[in-house]
Amino acid sequence: MMVRISSRVKTGIGVVIAVMALCLAPWFDRGTFAEEIALSQSTIEQAFPTSSKCKRCHERVFEEWETSPLSRSIHSPAFRALLDIFLSSQAGKDKALCFRCHAPHVREFPNQVQLFINQAKAGDPSLDGVACAQCHLIKQVDRAKQPPEPKYELESKTIYGPYKDSVQNRAHQSMELGLFQRSDLCLNCHQSVPSAAVLGKTNDLLGNWDQSKAVKSGKECQTCHMPEQVGESANGEKKRKTANHTFPGRIGTLRQEAAKLDVHTKIEGEKTTVTVKVQSLVPHNLPATHPAWAAVLLDLDIKGKNLKTVFTDKRVYGRVYQDAKGQKTSFDFEAVKVLEDTVLKPEELRVETFTFPTPKDTKTFDIELTLNYAPITGPAPFLQRVEAESSKGSQDPVFQPIEIVKYVENIPISK
Ligand code: HEC
Ligand code: HEC
Ligand code: HEC
Ligand code: HEC
Ligand code: HEC
Repeated sequence: MMVRISSRVKTGIGVVIAVMALCLAPWFDRGTFAEEIALSQSTIEQAFPTSSKCKRCHERVFEEWETSPLSRSIHSPAFRALLDIFLSSQAGKDKALCFRCHAPHVREFPNQVQLFINQAKAGDPSLDGVACAQCHLIKQVDRAKQPPEPKYELESKTIYGPYKDSVQNRAHQSMELGLFQRSDLCLNCHQSVPSAAVLGKTNDLLGNWDQSKAVKSGKECQTCHMPEQVGESANGEKKRKTANHTFPGRIGTLRQEAAKLDVHTKIEGEKTTVTVKVQSLVPHNLPATHPAWAAVLLDLDIKGKNLKTVFTDKRVYGRVYQDAKGQKTSFDFEAVKVLEDTVLKPEELRVETFTFPTPKDTKTFDIELTLNYAPITGPAPFLQRVEAESSKGSQDPVFQPIEIVKYVENIPISK
């Protein structure tokens, strides 16, 4: 029944909701249950104000964040479908696990896990996932823990951020914290997933990122994923450098900086060889392998006479995991072993060779190479579930590849 509380609860009207829940109480078998939910949600939101509260004064940031994947961290069809499978699995006894990163304020409310689960399952959760307060109330990140853990200091009601000299405002105290310009802030969610801990050293999503040229030259996660820009820090505050909160990644133009393809073609009579140098420009693994199905594909398509495809092949960059029963699994919480690891390591140069019969009855042929993020994969019932969870059904973007780079060349066949 908690499903009904689906609009964003703002503190202040939290009371109204509680009263409503009381009025509705006789309709429920356990009336006080509904009341408890409304009250516990408003308690949570007193500690972690919803993003809609920040929107009032930070319209630019809010609108950017709203378009980012972070705003859907507990809403996405894939998350909701996977959460369900996780909860009914062996590992699912630790009910808060997914939320520790997808709605990290669960850490402060361990007794309210069921509320988080119900809200996520409802599909229109009035709880935020990774929103403003979930990041800006982090006082410290404990990197000795694996994965690293965020520490909140809620009593102080202070908002932490990058500015030394934040302009005063009526809503909150501000304090500069160097953490906000360092990768450490991001690592507590992006470095590894605890469920795959049995994997040991292979359980790292980013690889040796800190040894990369980019990072050694002083770049942090924010340099690329929250690029500096000119904008309003708060409504009417124009004089500052600000940080892009759309979190460019798979969405946005950053992915065009992910890799370069250098292609050489050699025709030897009946046989043609295409050599592709795939140069990753990313200072960490590509892709990061959570969720476990995450993969990048290099697709080759040879078009001969009348642009008809005469040959195709591909390479897969990702990980294949095995579960305790010795079967392949698409879910990292079931993984006990990495069977295969073809992920592109930080700034790696990978050379791929494709050999095929030289196209016949034509003076030229086309080579088409695309590097893209692969669509979601997994067992059929899981994919059907994802489809059912999406308002767009099988048209949901999660079922489409996302192009990173494309290379096309017309090759003459000399006699
Ligand atoms: C509290 C956990 C948490 C923190 C802290 C965090 N992230 Fe994330 N991030 C997530 C989750 C969860 C997602 C996936 C959201 C979704 O698609 O459901 C994500 C998604 C992203 C994406 C989009 C990835 C893609 O595939 O397009 C980028 C980029 C990103 N985060 C960068 C950062 C950066 C940079 C920082 C540090 C400033 C950071 N994140 C801090 C949890 C976090
Ligand atoms: C240690 C932090 C962490 C934990 C724990 C975690 N995730 Fe994630 N999750 C992330 C981050 C970060 C991303 C974004 C990854 C990227 O884009 O490279 C993500 C992305 C995803 C995605 C793809 C984006 C989307 O929303 O469709 C799904 C699905 C997902 N997680 C499901 C889960 C489930 C289910 C669990 C619990 C079994 C879980 N995650 C546990 C951090 C975490
Ligand atoms: C009444 C208006 C108002 C509301 C509501 C508000 N802020 Fe602010 N906030 C401001 C102003 C004004 C500044 C100063 C901007 C500047 O100095 O350029 C600011 C600064 C900040 C900063 C920068 C702090 C620093 O020192 O780097 C962060 C981060 C921030 N706000 C986050 C939030 C979050 C998160 C919320 C919601 C929980 C929120 N704000 C709600 C007005 C508001
Ligand atoms: C994943 C963590 C994360 C989330 C979510 C997030 N921020 Fe930030 N925010 C940061 C970091 C990190 C910086 C500093 C970036 C830098 O200086 O390189 C920052 C900077 C800011 C600033 C000062 C710079 C600017 O761009 O104006 C404000 C204000 C701010 N955030 C408000 C918000 C509000 C409001 C929301 C929700 C709509 C939000 N943030 C969501 C991590 C986050
Ligand atoms: C020099 C720029 C750069 C730095 C620094 C950087 N990244 Fe990336 N990152 C990229 C590029 C380029 C891509 C690939 C294109 C894309 O998906 O945006 C990427 C992709 C991603 C993705 C989404 C793709 C995936 O494989 O799931 C996540 C999440 C991410 N980075 C997180 C981080 C985190 C966390 C840090 C800090 C430890 C970081 N990045 C540092 C450039 C950078």
